[in-house]
Amino acid sequence: MPLCLIEHPLVQDKLTRLRRRDTPSPDFRRLLHEIALLMGYEVTRDLEIGRAFIHTPVAPMEAPILARPAPCLVSILRAGNGLLAGLMDLLPESPVGHVGLFRDEVTLQPVQYYFNVPHDLGERLTIVTDPMLATGHSAAAAVTRIKEAGAREIRFLCLVAAPEGVDVFSEAHPDVPVHAAALDKGLNDQGYIVPGLGDAGDRIYGTVEP
Ligand code: URA
Repeated sequence: MPLCLIEHPLVQDKLTRLRRRDTPSPDFRRLLHEIALLMGYEVTRDLEIGRAFIHTPVAPMEAPILARPAPCLVSILRAGNGLLAGLMDLLPESPVGHVGLFRDEVTLQPVQYYFNVPHDLGERLTIVTDPMLATGHSAAAAVTRIKEAGAREIRFLCLVAAPEGVDVFSEAHPDVPVHAAALDKGLNDQGYIVPGLGDAGDRIYGTVEP
């Protein structure tokens, strides 16, 4: 599946503001919210459209309407929640799931500590979100669990992807397209995306060490 880069000028401008190290948490959260609206618009651009017969105050008409139930949104905790709020505004009827994973320091494998997703995943498009696709291991593990829970059609939405993460993720899930605002250079020794934007969770929640 291809990497779909969202090159809309407003998305790129907001990403630059998010990347700046002196952008404070309140601004970071607001920008994430705004960029989620724009990226959500792009990621849903080809949703199937049906027809509904309605009455406007002036006349009856046949009008376009989403043909299928609203997509399910799944946030990978905790940074995924930074994009989730904007996506929920865009898709207010969407059910929402959460996946929590941490990395075992011995095996370095992702371990699940929380999993709660809607029961009817199989009937919906599922949009899984996490701002940073770094090593790709957590994202791949999360999507494996989401598929086991019944999802059949999935899109992965992130802000910044590393080439290593895209490779790992796409090898595990060749059927899941990755939508990102940028493909950065790579990962540093600590697993941060370079140039990236730092730890997205810390920047959202103001937990960055002084
Ligand atoms: N997670 C982050 O929040 N930032 C990175 O650069 C890599 C993983």
